[in-house]
Amino acid sequence: MINNEKSIEIFDSHAHYDDDSFNEDREATISNIKSNGVIGVLNCGSSIEGARKSLELAEKYDFFYAAVGIHPEFAHKLDDEILNEIKNMASSEKVRAIGEIGLDYYYEENPPRDIQKNAFRKQMALARDLKLPVVIHDRDAHEDTLNIIKEFPEVTGVVHCFSGSVEFARECVKRGYYIGITGVVTFKNSKKIIEVVKDVPLDRLLVETDCPYMAPTPYRGKRNQSDYIKYILEKISEIKDLDIEKVNCQTIYNIKNLLKII
Ligand code: NI
Repeated sequence: MINNEKSIEIFDSHAHYDDDSFNEDREATISNIKSNGVIGVLNCGSSIEGARKSLELAEKYDFFYAAVGIHPEFAHKLDDEILNEIKNMASSEKVRAIGEIGLDYYYEENPPRDIQKNAFRKQMALARDLKLPVVIHDRDAHEDTLNIIKEFPEVTGVVHCFSGSVEFARECVKRGYYIGITGVVTFKNSKKIIEVVKDVPLDRLLVETDCPYMAPTPYRGKRNQSDYIKYILEKISEIKDLDIEKVNCQTIYNIKNLLKII
């Protein structure tokens, strides 16, 4: 169990505080998570507007960093002009990754697969050229995601909100990627992700909220926020039978290492 008197430091490796659901109380929520021990947040853009807002947040709050990129849902919007704007944003000290990028075959209304793959490849190439890590979104597209990862051996990053098998996780880890664990690991019916957490070495795991989504138990279904990561840390320590402090220290080291934050 978590000793509530002992405050733990938290680094959220994937958040969306630019999301509309924070419009009413964004500033208050950010000051609240800070007083609850959150020492770092990687805010990930999904659209070009989201990327701009992520950079704004990172410039406003010193414990915020930004990832800039176009999510597969908006892959059809990635033209040369947008790609160039992402490249320009990435020259900021506070932009530490390209993301979130990737493939999402779950929703039928998403852009056609070829358009998604094209946008994914263009942004992987940008990350390679800029020597930045990537934040990958993969939903129901494990095989194509892995194939594109293989095309860019110089690029590493994180496969966020990991939903694949142990075998797929091993393939990603072998190529230098981290595996992002959300509140899904705390859900009653979760099996696959628990097997993944068991198998993947602690030095390849990251913890993330993906807030406002994916709130862990006991907040499942509610709006998520970075300090809830303590429930994910608790679950990982239970699965791996390790001290929670050890899990916490290592996962903070992992994200700082990936984002080159000393
Ligand atoms: Ni996300």
